[in-house]
Amino acid sequence: MVAEPAAGTGSARRASPMGWWRRQSLRFRVTAAASAVLALALAASAWVLVGVLSQSLIATIDESAYQRAHRVRADADADRLPPELSNPDGTLIQVIDATGRITHATVGTDRLVPLLGPQARQSAIRAREARFLDGRPYGIPGPLRVAAVAADRGQVVIAARSFDEVGKSVAAAGRVLFLGTPILIVLLAGASWMIVGRTLRPIASLRRGAAEITGTARSRRLPVPEARDEVHSLATTLNDMLARLEAADGRQRALVSDAAHELRSPLASIRLQLEVALDHPEGQEWRDTAEGVLEDAMRLSRLAEDLLALARLDERGGALARREPVDLDALVRQGTERYADNPVLVRRAVPDEQITVTGDALDLGRVLTNLIDNAVRHAASAVVVELRVSGSEALLTVTDDGPGIPEADRERVFDRFTRLDSARSRDEGGAGLGLAIVRETVRAHGGGVHLADAGPGLRAVVALPLRQDSSIK
Ligand SMILES: Nc1ncnc2c1ncn2[C@@H]1O[C@H](COP(=O)(O)OP(=O)(O)O)[C@@H](O)[C@H]1O
Ligand SMILES: [Mg+2]
Repeated sequence: MVAEPAAGTGSARRASPMGWWRRQSLRFRVTAAASAVLALALAASAWVLVGVLSQSLIATIDESAYQRAHRVRADADADRLPPELSNPDGTLIQVIDATGRITHATVGTDRLVPLLGPQARQSAIRAREARFLDGRPYGIPGPLRVAAVAADRGQVVIAARSFDEVGKSVAAAGRVLFLGTPILIVLLAGASWMIVGRTLRPIASLRRGAAEITGTARSRRLPVPEARDEVHSLATTLNDMLARLEAADGRQRALVSDAAHELRSPLASIRLQLEVALDHPEGQEWRDTAEGVLEDAMRLSRLAEDLLALARLDERGGALARREPVDLDALVRQGTERYADNPVLVRRAVPDEQITVTGDALDLGRVLTNLIDNAVRHAASAVVVELRVSGSEALLTVTDDGPGIPEADRERVFDRFTRLDSARSRDEGGAGLGLAIVRETVRAHGGGVHLADAGPGLRAVVALPLRQDSSIK
């Protein structure tokens, strides 16, 4: 599942257990870690269980031994003890008098040797606690719990109960745990191995799907698992990313092919003019040829500039190269000066106040030029450039009285390489990149642009957010 490390891996790293662990599959690591934690937890709980069990069983034994001892003491104090005590519950009793002689005992109990010697008796009485005693010297197999109680006239009552049963039950419980715990761990390890394998399966198929995606294949998507889990959201997120990459790739391809297409006709035209001129040098008007070639060269250079502007906008991904205060008033004045000797009238309707926005003066100048170029090209008699403030926005409008653009096409013309013009105006126009540059530049400035009907003609409206802190800088 996991690739072997490269052959060059240092021997020091290979030897380290952490390195070994990291090279194992995720499935193995999860299973091993879960099983190890469970094994520790089970071992600890088994240990606690056995301890608590034996403690409580010992307490039970001790209690019954003391109960019996107290009953016998009451009888001894009242001098009502028969010489031979009955033994209904298996508790051995010895009653020892002040001289250390055994005066009474249960049936079958040693009548000569006390279970506890004089010192042990005294300490047991003081401690009020039963203690362990090996029963074999007294003919009893296994350990005993022995309790001692003081009675009147210096007598001592000793009660003993066999510990054997407790030992047996604790040992049985221990055996069950000792065998059951490993079985439980093995079962859990198997289950976790299977569950982790099942969980990782969609990831493996994601990986396979990703490996199958090649640069050329179109519309490839990763397999999305049915379960609505983390892998599902990973797969959908990756697919969204693939879709975006594919779209960007598609746009790039389209741009390249459109650009190549646009380059072809001026180049063909230059080539044709030069070929004709060279084939028939006599009677050739070289000046006309040069002018024709120059015109085509201008088209080519305009196209190259537009493509470069778009490439820069794409590169920056909607951000501005410069953020500086731009005086729109001055920008419009400079922008319209170029059209001073144009047959089409250019008027400015600029109020007195200064209108400043934040951005790149060069880029905004290009926006204005593109719009005025379009308007001048289509206008019948006049073009009006207007600048005003509306709320927190500066509104820049370029209005002409030409044919306008039908409602249905007013969004479409913002697309790259989209031209609606007839063959006549195409000669003057560009490659259909002007409005695309306008829109992307305005968006990078946080504004918007749309086309409206000027009845007759077209009005391009650019809205830019006003500079907030114009007083500061
Ligand atoms: N003022 C206008 N009046 C009429 N049509 C226009 C006007 N401005 C733009 N258009 C149309 O929108 C198209 C796209 O404009 P643009 O992106 O600037 O490209 P280009 O100027 O290179 O043709 C133009 O080809 C033209 O058909
Ligand atoms: Mg244009």
